[in-house]
Amino acid sequence: MTPIGIHDLELATAHHVLDLGLLATSNGTDPNKYRIGIGQDEMSMPAPDEDVVTMGASAALPLLQRHGADGIRTLLFATETGLDQSKAAGVWVHQLLGLPAHVRTVELKQACYSATAALQAAIGIIARSPEEKVLVIASDVARYELDSGGEPTQGAGAVAMLVSANPALVEIEPISGVHTADVDDFWRPNDSSTAVVDGALSVRAYLDALTGAWDDLAARGGPELAAIDRVVYHQPFTKMAKKAQQRLSQHAGSDLGEVGLQTGSVYNRRLGNTYTASLYASLAALLDHEDDLAGQRVGLFSYGSGSVSELLTGIVQPGYASADRARRVREALDARVPLDVAEYRQLHATELPSGVDVATPRVTKAPFRFAGIRGRARHYERTDGG
Ligand code: HMG
Repeated sequence: MTPIGIHDLELATAHHVLDLGLLATSNGTDPNKYRIGIGQDEMSMPAPDEDVVTMGASAALPLLQRHGADGIRTLLFATETGLDQSKAAGVWVHQLLGLPAHVRTVELKQACYSATAALQAAIGIIARSPEEKVLVIASDVARYELDSGGEPTQGAGAVAMLVSANPALVEIEPISGVHTADVDDFWRPNDSSTAVVDGALSVRAYLDALTGAWDDLAARGGPELAAIDRVVYHQPFTKMAKKAQQRLSQHAGSDLGEVGLQTGSVYNRRLGNTYTASLYASLAALLDHEDDLAGQRVGLFSYGSGSVSELLTGIVQPGYASADRARRVREALDARVPLDVAEYRQLHATELPSGVDVATPRVTKAPFRFAGIRGRARHYERTDGG
């Protein structure tokens, strides 16, 4: 069988950053609750002229610069930060990237899980037409109410993946474990720009979904836990990965210890929750911060509240390493413009007025910007002259 998987992967984030130490000081919380208790240092926040489209296009641009668009006939855009009830956000990305017309483009939604559904759909398409490539983009802005328990677990970012036959990064193995359970742990009603969440229930639901997906993987003949070298997890906050690894070790009867937890959290600690992109940001961090993973098996646990989850495995390919991505991600994280708490609160409270034309202020330094709304339609611009 032709190996299929992730050929290349790139991250992008937003213009602003809030140091969680500042948030802690301003709301009277011990900063160690955020840094150690939930394992987060910073959270990215979009400028008014950024959104999931601009971040997603920014993540995908370097992939097209490196590999061209040849063979791409499908663009799958995973997000739970829906911008329109009808139009797929990927259609704006398709235009911004100058992709050919002969590309099917669609948006997928199931909380933080849908990028994994997109990856599996991409693999299915390529299994039938091995010469084709699929561009998968996961892009989200995690928003909770000001002064709520979820506030320190916000964030923003995007991951773009080029999925192909004979991948250079990670071959995805055919057997995976899946799990669906109707649970009201986290959701975002149509009339709200922030999520509704029961934090304690969401942590329990995540861990139950993990063991449920593991049981399905095992029943379908997946590898023993001892045959999996590292596991990366959806990370709403990085401590969640630690809880998950402990639960998986107990449940599957093989102790993974803390292996891979620190390396797999390097980007997530600074991005915050990036919903659909979070698991794949963790995979990138693992690949970028371990010495040599060639030939090793990596488990990937994808969880989307509500809930749908999947545990899949992949084999890291020889020659996968890219020192350059680690540098690029670090530079992008370091280049974010810090907000103080007053600026953060003001930006958080700013929402687009409904039903009127809007021109957004020019803030972002990204190659794409959200220019505003005319006649109720969103408009985007490429800013780098490309
Ligand atoms: P909370 O009530 O603010 O925090 O909620 P807590 O009191 O549970 O404390 C958190 C941890 O900090 C605890 O450690 C404390 O002991 C520790 P734990 O027992 O968990 O190991 N702590 C300290 N540590 C060091 N020094 C201190 C200190 N004080 C306390 N001084 C919660 C935390 C994450 C629940 C909240 O922020 C929240 O509701 N976040 C949003 C929901 C969420 O992220 N859920 C995760 C699972 S659901 C999911 O992953 C899906 C999601 O991504 C959405 C989607 O799928 O679309 C969210």
